[in-house]
Amino acid sequence: MRTAVDKPLPGVFISLEGCDGSGKSTQISRISSRLDSAGLNPLVTREPGGTPFGERVRQLLLDPGSPDRSILSETFLYAAARAEFVSKIVRPALAQGRIVITERYVDSTWVYQGYAGGVSVSNIESINTIATGGLETDLTIILDISDSTVINERLALKQKDKIESRSGKYHQKVREGYRVLAKRFPHRVICIDAGLDVSAVESLIWKEVVNILSKKGYDLTNEKHGRESL
Ligand SMILES: Nc1ncnc2c1ncn2[C@@H]1O[C@H](COP(=O)(O)OP(=O)(O)OP(=O)(O)O)[C@@H](O)[C@H]1O
Ligand SMILES: [Mg+2]
Repeated sequence: MRTAVDKPLPGVFISLEGCDGSGKSTQISRISSRLDSAGLNPLVTREPGGTPFGERVRQLLLDPGSPDRSILSETFLYAAARAEFVSKIVRPALAQGRIVITERYVDSTWVYQGYAGGVSVSNIESINTIATGGLETDLTIILDISDSTVINERLALKQKDKIESRSGKYHQKVREGYRVLAKRFPHRVICIDAGLDVSAVESLIWKEVVNILSKKGYDLTNEKHGRESL
């Protein structure tokens, strides 16, 4: 959380979260096109990744042939990539007043390594805070899917990465964990039914994006689609 002594960052930071195959990439592409059309030039990025170092860590974490590791080692690897991501990508973009949209952020660690993986919530939250310097999103949208059959159908054609290859029970806990997370951080997290068709999900997300942008001073009803004042 930002404190009174921190100068508020002028940008807007949004993350999309949800289990593998919930539609995050699909929706980020649609929402960023809408923001582009509105002349808002969003920065679209992802975790783990976003920086050359982060993309190497991503390979280490997700490549199917990557060596096995403990869930705690995995947590620190995500945190290492995240520290780079926040300092090199997110903070500079926010300082320039840009809208940053990321596929996954701290909440993925909370759910995958914490709730589903067994690292304690207090440790996860401490590690996340150290990695990010406490930078929270303004809005996190969880693409929520309760039906595992829907996810299995969506992932059927894809080669599974190291984490996607974990058991059905683990992935069930991931889906459940996202709902617990939404209740823990209601000031910034919204759950959306990602089992609907792509356009319906897009409309629900867009409504939330417009809402947070208007709270930050953007006027998307105006033809200029710009920020009224900084
Ligand atoms: N609402 C939807 N209805 C049906 N299919 C969808 C929907 N959203 C996405 N898909 C399809 O599901 C698959 C996974 O979508 P996508 O890659 O966007 O998910 P993701 O959450 O980014 O996955 P990952 O966690 O692997 O990055 C794709 O084939 C996509 O076309
Ligand atoms: Mg994706």
